[in-house]
Amino acid sequence: MENQFFSPRIIAWYQHNRRDLPWRHTRDPYKIWLSEVILQQTRVAQGMPYYLRFVEAYPTVFDLAAAPEQEVMRLWQGLGYYSRARNLHQTAQFIAQQRNGLFPDTFSSLLQLKGIGTYTAAAIASFAFDEPVAVVDGNVYRVLSRVFGIETDIASTAGQKEFWTLANTLIPPDQAAVFNQAMMEFGAIQCTPTSPDCLLCPLQAQCQANATGKVAALPVKSKKVKVKERFFNYFVVAQNGQLALKQRNTRDIWQQLYDFYLVESDAPLTSIDALDDATLRDILPQVIIEPPARAYTHVLTHQRIQAQFWVLHAPDTLLTLPSELQFFSHEAIEALPKPVLITAYWKERFL
Ligand code: ADE
Ligand code: SF4
Repeated sequence: MENQFFSPRIIAWYQHNRRDLPWRHTRDPYKIWLSEVILQQTRVAQGMPYYLRFVEAYPTVFDLAAAPEQEVMRLWQGLGYYSRARNLHQTAQFIAQQRNGLFPDTFSSLLQLKGIGTYTAAAIASFAFDEPVAVVDGNVYRVLSRVFGIETDIASTAGQKEFWTLANTLIPPDQAAVFNQAMMEFGAIQCTPTSPDCLLCPLQAQCQANATGKVAALPVKSKKVKVKERFFNYFVVAQNGQLALKQRNTRDIWQQLYDFYLVESDAPLTSIDALDDATLRDILPQVIIEPPARAYTHVLTHQRIQAQFWVLHAPDTLLTLPSELQFFSHEAIEALPKPVLITAYWKERFL
């Protein structure tokens, strides 16, 4: 096999260049798990004090399981992505209570645990149990894409598969732990994102990117625009053939355009009662509610809006409208500047 140069060299490099990090002195799956979950959040230098504090406060999975959630969250404070801390705590309780403190000891059984994905399962399986399954993180993508000149997008599913497969063909079956550590360390110290040390690199002679001048261009990673999902619940107050609209003036989409009374929610609304909104609490008992006939989807560059409209048929005596809302006749509405979404709904329902 022509890739045979790779593993011995990267392992030899690691043995001379490795940093002395606390989680490299243990085979305890619990401590390895802690370190990897923390290092997914932050760099080694910032993650180290967190790791040391966690291990000191909770030397075993039983200690973590028995800790109050508040305290775990406080130790996690500053790392961000707090659902990870909650998962950590819940998984510790599961292992302590359901498994007598015993960690699953294979890649596939580790994957079953809450909050443990491919990366973490591979890290624990290889570092604690020497299972030959490759750990693939950003460092590994960078090293492999450069050495083997792979231009597949690492953000794509196909790319992730390709790199994962390659890494798993390179891992020596009897040196899983050291190989995985070596790959990450090589990416962190030698083959860095912006200033790789190609001149003094043990893989320079074989490195495709170095030979073709593509070091800076690899890995290829498409910038996936994050599309935010938003759920708009519109309440169209109708009275005497007129509808209540307001002008949008928040720092948001559609500034200065007119729309209806809006309550945004984090998920599609299952019932009006789920909305905790003071204005609606006042209005709803006074009106006849016409539920949405369908949902409208509106796609913007960075947002996908799903809107539903409730018509609130109000009697002449309805008094408690927020001052921002004004009644408009259909002629007047025709003339108002409106988002396309609002126009589409209004035409479908009222014209
Ligand atoms: N980053 C993520 N896991 C790591 C590890 N085990 N050692 C060094 N850096 C890491
Ligand atoms: Fe990375 Fe440069 Fe070494 Fe290639 S030669 S593996 S790009 S450090």
